Formats: sequence, C-alpha cells, structure tokens
Amino acid sequence: MRRDFDFLVIGSGIAGLSFALEAARHGTVCVVTKDRMPEGSSQYAQGGVATVWSPDDSFAAHAADTERAGAGLCHPEIVDLVVREGPERVREMIERGTRFSLRPDAEDPYDVDLGLEGGHSQRRILHALDATGREMMRALVEAVGRDERIDVLERHIAVDLIDTAKFGLPGPPRCCGAYLLDVDSERVTVAAARSTLLATGGAGKVYLYTSNPDVASGDGVAMAFRAGVPIANMEFIQFHPTCLYHPKAKSFLVSETVRGEGGILTRPDGSRFMPKYDDRAELAPRDVVARAIDQEMKLHGFDNVFLDVTHCDRAFLEKRFPTILARCRRFGIDPATEPIPVVPAAHYTCGGVVTDADGRTPLAGLYAAGEVAMTGLHGANRLASNSLLEGLVFGHRAADEAVRRTDSTEAPPPDIPEWNPGRARTSDEAVLITQKWDEIRRLMWNYVGIVRSDRRLERARGRMDVILEEIDRDYWDFLPTADLVELRNLATVADVIIASASHRRESRGLHFNVDCPDRDDAWRTDTVLVRDPETRRPVPV
Ligand code: FAD
Ligand code: SIN
Repeated sequence: MRRDFDFLVIGSGIAGLSFALEAARHGTVCVVTKDRMPEGSSQYAQGGVATVWSPDDSFAAHAADTERAGAGLCHPEIVDLVVREGPERVREMIERGTRFSLRPDAEDPYDVDLGLEGGHSQRRILHALDATGREMMRALVEAVGRDERIDVLERHIAVDLIDTAKFGLPGPPRCCGAYLLDVDSERVTVAAARSTLLATGGAGKVYLYTSNPDVASGDGVAMAFRAGVPIANMEFIQFHPTCLYHPKAKSFLVSETVRGEGGILTRPDGSRFMPKYDDRAELAPRDVVARAIDQEMKLHGFDNVFLDVTHCDRAFLEKRFPTILARCRRFGIDPATEPIPVVPAAHYTCGGVVTDADGRTPLAGLYAAGEVAMTGLHGANRLASNSLLEGLVFGHRAADEAVRRTDSTEAPPPDIPEWNPGRARTSDEAVLITQKWDEIRRLMWNYVGIVRSDRRLERARGRMDVILEEIDRDYWDFLPTADLVELRNLATVADVIIASASHRRESRGLHFNVDCPDRDDAWRTDTVLVRDPETRRPVPV
C-alpha cells in the first residue's frame, strides 16, 4: 500500500510538530510516530527553553555562553541565527497557548519568570514549573489536532528512507519518503512525499543508563547513515550529572535548575566537592559536573553522590519543583529534609545528521531538525535548555525551506517498489534481540562512556564487529518487528559513536580520552563520517 503527502514528518516531538504546523499552511502533512503522541524526550523536558527575554540580557551574551560550552566547535553563524530567532519562536509558542510560569505581578502571559541554569551568565530560561516539555507539547499536540491538513500515524515506525539512487529509481538522487512498519499489524507500507523530515530525536538508549525515554534509539541517524548521508560529531554524548539513583526510578532526571536555585552536590558524608573541580562549582557546564561526579564515584567507590536542597525553604521547593518532589517522594525520599541520591546518565546526542542552516541534508528532499540533526549549534557540548530552542527554530526553518522547494524544484515522487520481504520468516526467538540489546548498552556504558581510553574503544569496536554481523543476518532472515528495527539502528549508532570517538585524537567538550587528555586545536574541526559502501561501516569523510 502507498500513501502520498507533500510533507512526511518522522517523529512527533517539538521539532517534528513545529515543522508540521508550519508546512501544513502550504500542503498535506503526515506525522509518523512510533509510539503514541506525545511520547519522546520533548515531553519530559524539565528545566525549560533558553532565549533572550530580559532587557538585561543580549544575543551576544547568549551566543557567548553557547560557544563557551561548545568548546570551540560551535558554528558561530548558526549560533547567531538561533539566538536571534529564538524569542520569536518562543513568542509563537505562547500564542499557541503555552503557559510558562509567570512573575508574581505578571499582567500577561509574556511576563515570564526566568530561571538560571549551569553555563548561562543570565536568567533566560522560560519554564513551566519543572515540567516545561509537558506544557509545550500540550500546546503543540492541541494545535496539530485542530489542523485538518495534518494526518498523524501513531504506532508506525519508519524502517528506512526511500532513496531513489539505492532503489534504482529514475531521476537524480533524492529522498522521496520512507517505508513504515505498522507496529501492531507488522505490515510494511510506503509513505511517499516530496519532502521528508527526520525529527526522530536522540540516541540515549544506546547507553545502559539514560534520562531518555525508550523511543530514543537513534533511528534517524541510522536511517540517514544507511542512505549515505554524512553524520557528524557523534562522539559528543552529553551525560546529565543528576538522574535520580533508585533501583525503581527508570530514567528520572533531577533538573539542572535545582542547582540553579541553590542545590549543592555532596559526598555521602555531606562534604561538598564541586569547588575543587571548577570555580563555578555546581553551576559549571554539565560535562565538568558529570566528570567530577564520575571521578568522585570511581575514586571513593561510591554508588552515587547526593544533591542537597535541604537548606532551601520547603514552600519554595514545593512551588518550584512539584514534579521532582512528587517523584522523589514516590521512592520514599523527601528532598526538603534529606539529600537526593543522584548519578550521571546519557542525556543528549550533540552530533547527528549533517544539515545546513535551513535543515537541509546533502540528500535532496531530506531534512533533519531537533536532536537528530547536527546543525553546528552545540559544538562539543550543548548548553542547558538550548535544545528545545533548536527544535523550535529548525523545525520552523526546515519547513519554510521545504515549502520553497516543494513549490519549485522538488517533483512528485516516482513509482516506488513495495517492501520486499525476500525469504524472511517470523522469528520465534525474542532472546536473540534482548541479549544483543543489553550487550550493546552495557558495552557502550563501560567502554564509550563519560571517560574513554584507546584500549576501551578498541575493545568496543571488536565486540561491535561480531554484533553487527549477527544483527545483519537476523535482519534479513526475519520479518521486521519494531524491536528488530530498533536493535539494528541502535547497533549502527553505537558503531558510529565508537568510530567518531576513536577518530578524535584529543579531549574536548564532552569527549574525554585518558590517552589524549588535552585539547589540541589541530582537531578543532567536526568529525564527519559516512558509510563505506563496501564494508558498510563508518569512515571519515
Ligand atoms: P523527541 O522529542 O525525542 O521526539 C522524537 C520523536 O521521534 C518521538 O515522537 C519518537 O517516537 C519518534 N521516533 C523516533 N524514531 C522513530 C521512527 N523510526 N519512526 C517513527 N517515529 C520515530 N532540553 C531543553 O532544551 N530543556 C530542557 O529542560 C530539557 N530537559 C530534558 C529532560 C529530559 C528528561 C530529557 C530526556 C531531555 C531534556 N532536554 C531538554 C532535551 C530535549 O528534551 C530534547 O533534545 C528535545 O526535546 C528533542 O526534541 P525532538 O523533537 O528532536 O525529539
Ligand atoms: C534539565 O532540566 O536539567 C535539563 C535541561 C536540558 O537538558 O537542557
């Protein structure tokens, strides 16, 4: 079966829905999402969205903070356009009905309370208490629901991009849609489109411990990689310093804003350690804080450290952090009277599919926006709360560009072959998938985590040689299921991260290798990899 649209949007987070709402003013849109809307990282964002809002702030200051965090790899022209367009995009979100937290004497929804986070020199974080993503996604999902030109296909997972060159279709190489697997019926169909947006989010699930939801398996990066699109800077994985440490607390983040409002990191004996590592102490950028925690844990053999807010007023904590307090209490921890046990966890994928300032990838007809993309905004480390902003700005810009191209150069898609299952059969051995899923996530955590070494990277690559070969065999022997599709993508992304980390012979931003621990500006350049058509493994461009 084939369905045709002007715009195909793969992913229903902040980037995908921002694109969809803009594109729908000019044509038909299909949003495909592998779970139910609004599942995805956007929904769980706590701290907020960073943008210049106060008269005391400036675009230059926001750009300087972004570039300082990015450790020399941000693309200044991209940083400049994002910080400048940010306020307009955020205002648009308020017009769409987002209710940010307001100042006590506010007279309108624009008079917002601005939060502070690590690495920011100014209060510029618009937030909805400590559940900003939930509120922004509520407004976006409602707007999409009101728009008759947007179709939403839930529980459909994009399996592969339809790339004319790969399928021997007529015309110059371009992307003209994707194969979609219906997660429930396990049938594969064709979604044909003049323009396709990857908005599939990040790849936190590659790691054993992550703040990310289950959908973050790096599918967009893997699909683009298989289509020959360059992937950049995947060694820069951001580990959030403070995820709740409790055997039953899966993926729960304790927001950076808790440190912004005075939270202190301590050892189990209550002693503070951050001032030893950085003058900015708890408000240092997160790579510094995460590495300091990792070092304290390894040095002293701690299972976790603590985030202490017991000196803060209980009423203030209740009012400012209701979600975090409620979650902690569910696990028997009262942050007003006892420190919160925390550990670092994989949080954000700074690298991704290479795009230009309009979200275009080098493959005609294919765009990428949000966490899946490498726009040049984050460099070697993302500044807190710049990600929701990036999703808003590039979702919008990519839609404008796709509209321009759909009107002019991008022709309707050609005839596309139906999915060919070959001789594949139904698998009755789920263990083949779960075993490799666990193995990849554990090896990435142990060998390619917060601190890396040449030996660990080499070991990781050796294991991936075997795992990739086994997955490739299973993939063609068995009919696709959502689990198999995700496993194949997870393995591809792990391989790209390992290759990127092995390629960079210095330490910078989020990438720290004990065998080359210093920054070396001979490496002040993006790591760009593509798929070698023969070996099908990543190689530097
Ligand atoms: P997502 O919101 O992750 O959406 C991806 C979508 O793609 C999902 O709908 C998913 O189901 C779908 N998808 C994936 N693969 C496929 C496929 N193959 N087929 C179909 N659909 C697919 N950033 C900030 O700026 N401020 C914050 O306060 C903040 N807090 C955070 C807190 C947490 C706990 C987490 C995890 C992240 C936080 N971040 C924050 C980061 C930020 O939330 C994300 O980077 C951002 O929301 C990503 O948006 P996105 O639209 O790119 O992807
Ligand atoms: C947080 O609230 O700490 C997350 C902010 C972010 O990831 O930008």
